[in-house]
Amino acid sequence: MPLVLPAGDPDAQRRAAGVLARGDLVALPTETVYGLAADATDPEAVARIYEIKGRPSFNPLIVHCVDVDEARAHGSIDARAEALAERFWPGPLTIVAPRRTESRIADLVAAGLDTVALRVPDAPAARAVIALLGRPLAAPSANRSGRITATSAADVVEEFGEGVPLILDGGRCRIGLESAIVALLPGEAPRLLRAGGVPAEDVEAVLGTALRAPGAGVEAPGMLASHYAPSARLRLDARDVRQGEALLAFGAPVEADTVLNLSEGGDLREAAANLFSHLRALDRESERIAVMPVPEEGLGIAINDRLKRAALREGGEGGGT
Ligand code: TXA
Ligand code: MG
Repeated sequence: MPLVLPAGDPDAQRRAAGVLARGDLVALPTETVYGLAADATDPEAVARIYEIKGRPSFNPLIVHCVDVDEARAHGSIDARAEALAERFWPGPLTIVAPRRTESRIADLVAAGLDTVALRVPDAPAARAVIALLGRPLAAPSANRSGRITATSAADVVEEFGEGVPLILDGGRCRIGLESAIVALLPGEAPRLLRAGGVPAEDVEAVLGTALRAPGAGVEAPGMLASHYAPSARLRLDARDVRQGEALLAFGAPVEADTVLNLSEGGDLREAAANLFSHLRALDRESERIAVMPVPEEGLGIAINDRLKRAALREGGEGGGT
């Protein structure tokens, strides 16, 4: 059995912050649903989330902030977003905004996108843990991929068993439904990416404009055209390096002038943690990237899914928004 402690207990909150600080996961209640939280600035901790959720691809995660000031440090909150934050934070609204370049949020949190999903939860225990840790939390809903969202500590235990070392128990979640997600990006009309805890009409009333409804593919932002894709051409399953290619290695590398290794020891969690930042770095260095094979198991399935998508892009067309 994982350790289950009362969410309102300051000692339990300190303990949770300690677990997160050492790179491990904590499940905790928010007003919407239980979240499976990691330090958002620790790429390996974030990789653990994908691993334990069993996601076959990297779906970007929501960054939970202690207050609007912290949110502003990680995303460019424009006037429209400010108005929504003022009205609905803390609360069940998530705002997708351009990611600030100086933000220390791990690339894996946004699955390589240059946007970030931000929210300030209306849950004192969650905010206390964020404050104690001193860093925001990346947290998807605390259920395994494709399963029903957890709204009680018992649900979380059922989902993950021993997989999560500490669960904070705050009873049933008040709202029991995930946050509404609104994208506020430069030069774009506001878009509703997911209906949720705040009714769309209430958001529209504050914005003074209608929200564009979710469209095809929105459930999987990893597939959107705006998803970060390298402008370099990728050659997958590479066992050698050709003239002019940079190498994205996995395991013991072959000789190359420009090489970054996802994990010399062949560790998939480390590889996931490095994937997007290494891709970005090599993309700056070279127009062609050879990618060594990554085993199709565990987190390797998500890594390969992302690599295949990146390889499908025609050179030059990518670059993201
Ligand atoms: O109420 C909630 O939002 C809960 C609690 C724990 O905060 N969290 C939650 O997380 O529902 P999750 O991972 O189950 O759903 C997050 C959604 C995903 O559909 C993801 O695609 C979207 O947010 N998302 C995250 N970052 C995004 C981004 N940069 N652009 C577009 N969509 C994004
Ligand atoms: Mg979910």
